[in-house]
Amino acid sequence: MSAIATDYPWTSQPLIAVAPMRLICLSKLASEVSNAGGLGFIGIGSDASTLEAELTQAKSQLTVKSSNDTLPIGVGFLLWAGEPLLQASLPLLANFRPAAVWLFAPSQPDQLAHWTTEIRKATGGKSKIWIQIGTVAAAVGVVSSCQPDVLVVQGSDAGGHGLEECAGLISLLPEVDDAVTSLCQSKSVPKPTLIAAGGLSDGRGVAASTLLGASGAVLGTRYLACPEANLTKGYQNAVLAASDGGVNTARGKLYDRLRGTKDWPAEYGGRGILNKTWHDHKAGLSEEENQRLYDEAMQRGDEGWGDGGRLTTYAGAGVGLVKRVQPASEITREVREEARKALKMERL
Ligand SMILES: Cc1cc2nc3c(=O)[nH]c(=O)nc-3n(C[C@H](O)[C@H](O)[C@H](O)COP(=O)(O)O)c2cc1C
Repeated sequence: MSAIATDYPWTSQPLIAVAPMRLICLSKLASEVSNAGGLGFIGIGSDASTLEAELTQAKSQLTVKSSNDTLPIGVGFLLWAGEPLLQASLPLLANFRPAAVWLFAPSQPDQLAHWTTEIRKATGGKSKIWIQIGTVAAAVGVVSSCQPDVLVVQGSDAGGHGLEECAGLISLLPEVDDAVTSLCQSKSVPKPTLIAAGGLSDGRGVAASTLLGASGAVLGTRYLACPEANLTKGYQNAVLAASDGGVNTARGKLYDRLRGTKDWPAEYGGRGILNKTWHDHKAGLSEEENQRLYDEAMQRGDEGWGDGGRLTTYAGAGVGLVKRVQPASEITREVREEARKALKMERL
């Protein structure tokens, strides 16, 4: 039996997970994904003040059961928020024992190992540790220092924040797989499960990533088009309208600066849909004037996105495959079934 089937016994394979998108993927969306046989991650991000309420709500919304005394859901943290976030979260993690805890974007080298140790201690090892990385070097470093249960391999097409410099999944995933396999063999330690992330918007991408070495996939952008996502209609419509993500999305820091998000470590940027803010910046508009226009657009509500829109619209390069709004449970089942079909797993 695979580690995924043992650790998350309510799930079906290949595993489909929704990314812990801060402020967007809350207990409602995460619970729906778990209830559909996937794994939902609540995006707690950098602020633990909502953690107890989100986990309490999830507990009442979840209809699936985990056999190992855990809550069948995950929680995602952004480590650059530092020690106060960890200390505020540990008692709640100990109490609720989510099946998975997702760690991303440390600002100091030893943070991942520290968080891993403390969370394992607090939950008696019941909450499995997922660490998202974007390079082969990071994968090797994290496996050596933390021995995570799961490595989420994030390719450059991913929506939202990721490394400004990293490869696409098609080359990154097999190279990570080879490097981690050989490291774990040489150290005689168990190999973490690999899960793919970045540009996977339907079952074909998920199937391809399993052929590259993953046991499942994390999707963010696709779930922006579901009623359970906590985002405005204007943002959602901009996601539905976008296509050809290689030219109509880009990763960078401009949107972070204008929306006032200033805490990310320097090596990260956010991938979003290009709009007037970006095009005016490229045409030489001063940042001061761009900020003024951005702030003005903030006052226009949903009209701040869309045609002539200026507001931040984080989404990945797979955005062109996102065509309609569907319930999160339907997305989860549809993507999984498409992947199974592509892999001819329906016979198994
Ligand atoms: C709108 C949005 C917000 C995100 N926020 C977070 C976050 O708070 N924490 C995190 O670890 N990853 C976050 N991510 C990145 C995801 O973990 C994941 O790598 C990505 O969504 C996968 O690529 P995809 O969007 O093409 O499916 C976010 C992604 C999106 C699209």
